[in-house]
Amino acid sequence: MKLAAFVIFSAVLVLAAMLSGRGPATAAAGTIPFTAAQATTGAKVYAQNCASCHGATLKGITGPALVGTTSGIAQQSLVGVYEYVSQQMPMTAPGSLTKAQYLSIVAYILQKNGRKAGSRPLTLSVATTATATIEAKP
Ligand code: HEC
Repeated sequence: MKLAAFVIFSAVLVLAAMLSGRGPATAAAGTIPFTAAQATTGAKVYAQNCASCHGATLKGITGPALVGTTSGIAQQSLVGVYEYVSQQMPMTAPGSLTKAQYLSIVAYILQKNGRKAGSRPLTLSVATTATATIEAKP
């Protein structure tokens, strides 16, 4: 499934959760928590599972670029990208990594898109609900 369609699908799920009274856990105003350790692990997992198509510097080869303001994911929500990556990637073996590995890869992607690591880790509950964009809005 294309990411744009997938994001719309995810947004509908989040909306359904809100309407049913289970509001998403909010990542405080546009910030996304992750630790430097997660990003470091993510770099290794990315190198082994994603770099062959998305490039060692995330600028894209056969797969699209995952960094920069013009990348297809810069303005996508964290939840949309996490759900897409964890269910559709690696393209050759979708869903084959652990949740912790997917979280670490997303932490790495966030760091490469200019977001800053902090003391709190990126958790599954944040990754599956936060609507903050991958690229921090100025
Ligand atoms: C065999 C090649 C291949 C591998 C390995 C691979 N991808 Fe992809 N990836 C693609 C292709 C091709 C697309 C575009 C799919 C589409 O548009 O339907 C894509 C799309 C994406 C997107 C959406 C980008 C956009 O702008 O829409 C993300 C995010 C992504 N991949 C992350 C990853 C991550 C993280 C991994 C490692 C866990 C990974 N990919 C492994 C080929 C690959």
